[in-house]
Amino acid sequence: MKTLMVSLMLTLGISITAQAAGDATAGQAKSTVCGACHGPDGNSPVPNFPKIAGQGERYLIKQLHDIKKDERPVPEMMAFMPALSDQDIEDLAAYFSSQKTEIGAADPALVAAGEALYRGGRLEQGVPACTGCHAPDGVGNSPAGFPLLSGQHTVYTIKQLTAFREGQRTNDGDAMMMRSIANKLSDQDISALATYIQGLH
Ligand code: HEC
Ligand code: HEC
Repeated sequence: MKTLMVSLMLTLGISITAQAAGDATAGQAKSTVCGACHGPDGNSPVPNFPKIAGQGERYLIKQLHDIKKDERPVPEMMAFMPALSDQDIEDLAAYFSSQKTEIGAADPALVAAGEALYRGGRLEQGVPACTGCHAPDGVGNSPAGFPLLSGQHTVYTIKQLTAFREGQRTNDGDAMMMRSIANKLSDQDISALATYIQGLH
């Protein structure tokens, strides 16, 4: 499994680099504006604002740069993103990644379907298991930049998987890792996966 992951990451051109030099204390001081939508510790109470507490540092830094460059359009954040320096982004990422993710609850009616797909994929259609990159407990793979999913709001996850499928979110790299997977998911698959993920830990 380990060898498989390493060769997968080599194939995709992902390198494991050292953690960025962000300062969590400085990041907390800069995070007031973020707290209004994402919650002061990153556990957003609003389902369409993602939780960012406990998210991997490398993934956070990448998303913030993508949002700043408008490669991932988030109009809600564009009033202040242009003013953030690289150092601000690293400090904010260090702060939010050091916070603890709050886990939600899964819908009992859909959780079994979601779990089967998350853990087993659907091999006949070429859908890989999500566990390979996002880990069995949903914590992701921080050094590789594979995001933590566990506890994330169902509404937000549905929006992202649909956006990857419809080609509205395109910042998953030239390998199109998530677009090629989401392409093969139905609305029902997406709902089941998203509710399973909200309760996953
Ligand atoms: C006015 C509300 C608002 C504010 C303020 C805000 N955000 Fe966001 N943020 C959003 C929304 C909405 C999204 C998700 C958009 C989508 O659906 O793709 C988002 C997405 C993100 C993401 C991507 C999360 C993921 O899982 O991919 C990160 C990281 C992020 N914000 C960090 C921050 C930081 C750091 C700040 C403060 C500097 C901040 N945000 C301030 C609304 C806000
Ligand atoms: C080959 C590795 C790989 C596999 C397998 C994979 N993912 Fe991903 N996933 C990624 C990467 C890399 C990203 C981040 C892309 C980026 O940088 O924006 C991502 C992003 C996501 C996001 C967006 C997270 C956020 O906070 O916005 C969701 C949701 C997601 N994946 C769900 C899934 C589900 C559900 C499955 C299984 C059906 C799956 N992924 C399988 C690599 C993978």
